[in-house]
Amino acid sequence: MAQINSLLAIRQAVKTHYETYVYPQFPLLSSVRRCDTYALNLESLWSRFNGEKLGSEEQRILLAGCGSFSPYPTAVANPNAKITALDLSSANLQRAKFHTLLHFHFNVDFITGDLGDASVFLGKDRFHFIDCYGVLHHIPDVCSALRSIHSLLKPGAFVRIMVYSHCARKLVQSAAKAMRILRINNTNKIRDIYNNTTNGSRFRQCVDSSYESRFDWGLADLFLHPYAKAYRLDELLSLLDKAHLEPLLFTHQEASSDTQLEIKKLRTLEANQLLSTHFILFAGRTEDSEIRNKWQKDKTRVDTVISLNPVIKKSLPLLPFMPLKPDQKLGFENPPIDVKGNFLLSRFKHPVKKSTIDSIRWQAIQEYLRALFLIETID
Ligand SMILES: C[S@@+](CC[C@H](N)C(=O)[O-])C[C@H]1O[C@@H](n2cnc3c(N)ncnc32)[C@H](O)[C@@H]1O
Repeated sequence: MAQINSLLAIRQAVKTHYETYVYPQFPLLSSVRRCDTYALNLESLWSRFNGEKLGSEEQRILLAGCGSFSPYPTAVANPNAKITALDLSSANLQRAKFHTLLHFHFNVDFITGDLGDASVFLGKDRFHFIDCYGVLHHIPDVCSALRSIHSLLKPGAFVRIMVYSHCARKLVQSAAKAMRILRINNTNKIRDIYNNTTNGSRFRQCVDSSYESRFDWGLADLFLHPYAKAYRLDELLSLLDKAHLEPLLFTHQEASSDTQLEIKKLRTLEANQLLSTHFILFAGRTEDSEIRNKWQKDKTRVDTVISLNPVIKKSLPLLPFMPLKPDQKLGFENPPIDVKGNFLLSRFKHPVKKSTIDSIRWQAIQEYLRALFLIETID
């Protein structure tokens, strides 16, 4: 009973935090370039993990802990999907709703609630893609949140997760602890401390290294959060395993697209206290691993079809000499869409059989497939 009360008290404190410090607070008129949303496109992600074309009439996305901004870029990337934006904080949802409507996107439903209880208010709804970015580390009963995510995924579906890494977050966690001990509870006091520290101090470095710390909402998220747990890699992998989820692809900075290789690399970096990134990854239900393995095998022996990521298709400049460089979202530098790239990609405005592509072009195409500008499916 005492434990339940303490979980409820933390949830209430987290909710109050986000009612006070709406996160993030980008100007309402700020817009995203459509091309920069390419990695949120469900049809492309679905083909990457399952090798199937997903019909646009059935696409369902859940933003689990959406904050005040993410429904907008997700709607830009998926104009035909039915998107559900869920958050504990009504202030965050209100701003997200306003931002999305202001930019003329009307395919998002907004729901106030706790991810752990989602099955109660979402009923039989199931999703192809759940985005849970920067949320789980604020939930004390993370096992039940992950179980909830698992139960809301359709067969073949996936979740994107971002959680703090213990190693990368060390300085911030120590500073936040110090704030709690000193009973510092507002951002003005944090700024006073910052102004009184010497150049090169660890606290100054910690503040300066974060873009968000320029704003009150960012400073509060860093140092005044009532609950922010940072995870070690094996802790995270074990939580996923318990929820019957498995990593499919890591997408943090410099992540390898070979998941097992990336896990090894992260373990070594962590053991040597050198890990400087948080964990960002896609995970899928372990029950579906056979479907995914079959796709990986089929890819090498079946005549697949290559087409353009719908977001890139709409973003390709009409004038090919105008270069396009979507911001990197999968952890590595994107190949440029220059004149040659535009010419090559334009060929895939209509699906093309792999067998018709010559081996010289295939090299360049593979780079665009890795970047998700092109997608590959079984016919
Ligand atoms: C750091 S923000 C991240 C927002 C957004 N995902 C993004 O990347 O911009 C964390 C969000 O998770 C929400 N949140 C925290 N605990 C939650 C819970 N148990 N259920 C639903 N939302 C929750 C907060 O209200 C907040 O909006």
